[in-house]
Amino acid sequence: MASVCNSTTLNTPFTSSTKSSSLASTPKPSQLFLHGKRNQTFKVSCKVSNNDQNQNVETNSVDRRNMLLGLGGLYGVANAVPLASAAPVPAPDLKSCSKAEINPGGPEVPYLCCPPKPDDLDKVPYYKFPSMTKLRIRPPAHAADEEYIAKYKLATSRMRELDTNPNDPRGFKQQANIHCAYCNGAYMIDGKKLQVHESWLFFPFHRWYLYFYERILGSLIDDPTFGLPYWNWDHPKGMRLPPMFDVPGSSLYDERRNPHVRNGTIIDLGSFGEETKTTQLQTMTNNLTHMYRQMITNSPCPMLFFGARYVKGTDPNPGQGTIENIPHTPVHIWTGTVRGSDLGNGVKSNGENMGNFYSAGLDPVFYCHHGNVDRMWNEWKQTGGKRRDLTDKDWLNSEFFFYDENQNPWRVRVRDCLDTKKMGYDYAPMPTPWRNFKPVRKTTTGKVNTGSLPPTSKAFPVAKLDKAISFSINRPASSRTQKEKNEQEEMLTFNGVKYDDREYIRFDVFLNADKTVNANELDKVEFAGSYTSLPHVHANHDSSSEGVPFQLAITELLEDIGLEDEDTIAVTVVPKAGGETISIQGAEIKLVGC
Ligand code: C2O
Repeated sequence: MASVCNSTTLNTPFTSSTKSSSLASTPKPSQLFLHGKRNQTFKVSCKVSNNDQNQNVETNSVDRRNMLLGLGGLYGVANAVPLASAAPVPAPDLKSCSKAEINPGGPEVPYLCCPPKPDDLDKVPYYKFPSMTKLRIRPPAHAADEEYIAKYKLATSRMRELDTNPNDPRGFKQQANIHCAYCNGAYMIDGKKLQVHESWLFFPFHRWYLYFYERILGSLIDDPTFGLPYWNWDHPKGMRLPPMFDVPGSSLYDERRNPHVRNGTIIDLGSFGEETKTTQLQTMTNNLTHMYRQMITNSPCPMLFFGARYVKGTDPNPGQGTIENIPHTPVHIWTGTVRGSDLGNGVKSNGENMGNFYSAGLDPVFYCHHGNVDRMWNEWKQTGGKRRDLTDKDWLNSEFFFYDENQNPWRVRVRDCLDTKKMGYDYAPMPTPWRNFKPVRKTTTGKVNTGSLPPTSKAFPVAKLDKAISFSINRPASSRTQKEKNEQEEMLTFNGVKYDDREYIRFDVFLNADKTVNANELDKVEFAGSYTSLPHVHANHDSSSEGVPFQLAITELLEDIGLEDEDTIAVTVVPKAGGETISIQGAEIKLVGC
């Protein structure tokens, strides 16, 4: 369905043609970019509604078994779970909560991240939404006014004051520890470490987490309509640390940030821990390209957006969704301290605070960042096609544990967090210029000569991705009809991707490009997508494991490049970070139903 996108040459770089409510006004480029002027024009226009309605019907009628088979195809058989043993991830057992690890295999987090234990652990009830009169509206952080900022600062400093009672679950540190416990291996589920990242739990976990965080802040200033701000990094005006977080001494400030985030530096949404080697204008252009790829090109199917199936008994980290991959992880990396740098008293940085999951919640901007991640879930669903919530019961019935603003413990379910308005909040709309940032073919580009490239059988396995590689790969079908494309997505799949998960990882993938491709300029049709990873607790990346699959939906791309009729295409993989530690078992192109 991504293929309903058509290219049209337009003189204005941004023109809306989707139904999104947030496209009420179409900004001029000069309004969008903070520095400099764009002088390029872009071919844009992507209709992603209308004729996609019919496809929703198809998705609904897919029976569960086919769905599972499809997932096996999407995410590798290693991660497929037999139907009988499938069971949703339950709320963590607080009795088993123990020390968390900063990095896989240690060192340990020097304090306990576990929440206070409720009186009767076995009788924690399911959450009921309190009655509400007015929606909480979450504003874009860069546009918040002084009055709002003053309230937010006050609420946060009151939350910090609660830290004097370490048993108060509403305290700022306790709130940060929620992330540490769920993400750095403090909980065990069925003998395996619980991990809410790199799987389909990513979006719902963080949504619930922010929900309670926001209610606690609101209650501390007696404002039941208080809404968290969101870091609007998908819009050029929001592509820097929101100024309210950049005031030393304020409750919203965090000492443990990379100094480069200060004073309005443009954020690199693909940041991988090194200086961005391009201009600020190109960085913003790359950012919008990343957004287009992750929200549209690479996420036509729900599982691609949400992440891989993860149930009781499976290993953690089965595979991340597009937005978790980029820009979620790079924003963490960009904001946190440089790994290995001195944090004072001879303590070496592990990326604290934002660049490591155990400490990320200690930076108030974490919740602002995740506000926008959460907003992308809503935006994605408004994009049409097959973009809708998962219907798998094992996802819907997965549970988490949280305390509310009255210090009451609750179990919450994924099924209850699918509609933010029902939960009592919504996002103040902002334009989404990435929707119209579809890269286009330059007239000069032709087809790369695949005959001179090694085929996948020769190019793989790749033991060390320490330099760019190019190879040719066969397609299972060419010249597919629109109907065939609607039914099956063409997936470029890298199997058995392994790397040192204590490192920052990033590599980029290009189609129909050779090794001379300029990987600092992503606003080109040949750029297929990137893979990133933040150091965190894994269970399945040890040497005996099979690694993770990484796949890119390329149906739209092949049309845009003009390769739909080719049997063989050229692929180039460019390592950007951690390449010496990356190995890849193989690559193939598959046709997969959503
Ligand atoms: Cu739970 Cu942004 O990480």
